[in-house]
Amino acid sequence: MQVHVADHPLISHKLTVLRDESTDSPTFRRLVDELVTLLTYEATRDVRVEPVDVQTPVAMARGVRLTEPRPLVVPILRAGLGMLEGMQRLLPTAEVGFLGMVRNEETLEAVTYAERLPDDLTGRQCYVLDPMLATGGSLAAAINFLVKRGANDIIAITILATPEGISRIESDLQGVDVPVTLVTAGLDDGLDERAYIVPGLGDAGDRLYGVAD
Ligand code: PRP
Ligand code: URA
Repeated sequence: MQVHVADHPLISHKLTVLRDESTDSPTFRRLVDELVTLLTYEATRDVRVEPVDVQTPVAMARGVRLTEPRPLVVPILRAGLGMLEGMQRLLPTAEVGFLGMVRNEETLEAVTYAERLPDDLTGRQCYVLDPMLATGGSLAAAINFLVKRGANDIIAITILATPEGISRIESDLQGVDVPVTLVTAGLDDGLDERAYIVPGLGDAGDRLYGVAD
């Protein structure tokens, strides 16, 4: 898996405010949105385009447009939903599929409770959105889902990732012949005894939307 940690002072600044426990939910949501737009710029560097001619008021010009099939954006509910608008701002014609997953806090395994994706993803570039790559269980399960349906290029965008999570995904993907790239705003030190990211930003879903259980 190719890992790209975004290195930009604006991203670091927004991430610092996001981490701050005194940042309220509305500000947290806005910062996630802004960070994703900045990360999308990097994550779509290889989005597939084809040449197209356009008539300007002066002359014909050569340009590009997104190729068909269009990219598929897949937010992992709940927290990934907070990243969708920020991504759509730069990629408004992408289609959107949904995966609902929750980590069982005892076993740390991801449980899939909802899925709304095209049956056939053959030839599709897929962008998976989830702010937190902690143990990697949720993202690994999501990637497997997409690979089984035929996706042939997967780009995951996260706000934070851990070395443990990256290793887990790399070992789960052994033998899988699909390129996977991770674009993240920060690579943190690791996990605490509850498998929360350290220093992290706490529970992303709760900070976006409030406590669910
Ligand atoms: C969080 C987060 C990831 C997952 C990361 O979701 O958004 O999906 O945990 O943990 P992992 O890498 O160890 O699998 P959570 O299960 O809290 O659900 P939520 O988004 O509904 O809050
Ligand atoms: N899920 C979160 O929301 N935060 C963590 O630190 C780990 C998993």
